[in-house]
Amino acid sequence: MNKFIVHGPTRLRGEVEISGAKNAVVAILPATLLVDGVSHIENVPRISDVRIIMDILRSLGAEVEWQDNVLTVDSRRITSCEVDYKYAKKLRASYYFMGSLLGRCGKAVVALPGGCALGARPIDQHIKTFKGLGAEVRIEHGSVYCTSASLNSTHIYFDVVSVGATINAMLGACKAKGLTILENVAKEPHIVDVANFLNAMGANISGAGTDVIKIRGVARLGGGSYAVIPDQIEAGTFMMAAAATRGDVLVRNVIPKHMECISGKLREMNVGVEEFDDSIRVFVDRPLQNARVKTMPYPGFPTDMQPQTAVLMATVEGTGSIKESIWESRFRYTEELKRMGADITVSGETATINGGAKLTGAPVKACDLRAGAAMIIAGLVANGRTEIEEIEYIERGYEDIVRKFNALGANIERVTED
Ligand code: UD1
Repeated sequence: MNKFIVHGPTRLRGEVEISGAKNAVVAILPATLLVDGVSHIENVPRISDVRIIMDILRSLGAEVEWQDNVLTVDSRRITSCEVDYKYAKKLRASYYFMGSLLGRCGKAVVALPGGCALGARPIDQHIKTFKGLGAEVRIEHGSVYCTSASLNSTHIYFDVVSVGATINAMLGACKAKGLTILENVAKEPHIVDVANFLNAMGANISGAGTDVIKIRGVARLGGGSYAVIPDQIEAGTFMMAAAATRGDVLVRNVIPKHMECISGKLREMNVGVEEFDDSIRVFVDRPLQNARVKTMPYPGFPTDMQPQTAVLMATVEGTGSIKESIWESRFRYTEELKRMGADITVSGETATINGGAKLTGAPVKACDLRAGAAMIIAGLVANGRTEIEEIEYIERGYEDIVRKFNALGANIERVTED
């Protein structure tokens, strides 16, 4: 079993470089299947989710090579259009292979990933889009079967704002005949990044980042190079960690515009935030005050920053609250924080945090990827030794997290025990 041992407390100081965006890369790599050529993807983070997607691409016949942070995918020869359960169960983003294989081969058989730590994750909006594009879709034997002799344009109004369904619709539509219009789409930075990647390969997509995306189908996508944007959530995690430890950290390689929802909340709490062209300094030079947060689709406050923010709130005198409006089971980590001394009450969609209690190190577990990051921040704040189990969740999405925190003065060890 692998664990992180965090020795606290620590005041983080120094500079940290942010990696490429996980949520962009887990969509861009499946999207390379639409390319009839070779794609060079730069700024790819070395995380386990990427390794799983590489295995899936190889199982479909693509040739994949990874050198430094550049991943090269040669998808000229595709030999299968089926993603097996052994891969799909490890990665929710395997659903992007539905859109990309349908667009590439006119057929996709992708195993459903099953249950998830964040709650139910329906895919009805993805299926609605594939049907709109003219595909026949059925769910049998634990897999989604999509088939279509030829994909045609469609006009979709999404019932919920969904990152995954928006991206899958772009993947399915970019080679469909005619003009597809998608309304009530998600606007996250990685939606724009996937559209930019597809356009760089020859697609014709406009409006990504607004409420309406228009896709004019093209016959072919050729190869090329593309650099993935910096990870908004990794950057936000280090910003929260700097504030929670009352540190002073320059977070480098970020797009400050993408961070505004997080920077704004930190400023409201009296945290110092200074923006530069591609970096943000976070520091604390006066008493902080607690706040209220409601998670929303972008440009609202990201649900993926919710657990890290709860740790900061637990360190601040006064009462703070978080309303979770995206995922039904995202507060499980609060039980772990309570074991470290935090005073948190969860009622329905809202967590109320009575901040200011002294946290003490304890054995805890990472309930999911972002909850795991929150446990590290709590360990940095707490007095004594925090042992974090189930760190595989954390390593799915954070490149070199131990090295990056330790370079800021943290004392974290990664240990393997029988
Ligand atoms: C993506 C992110 C995840 C983040 C989430 C919300 C990736 C790989 N993952 O997940 O980290 O927490 O966005 O920002 O990018 N829904 C439906 N029907 C559907 C699809 C979604 O009802 O067909 C609902 C979901 O239950 C949820 C909400 O829509 O309540 C948002 O989900 P969605 O944006 O699709 O999340 P993911 O793309 O799975």
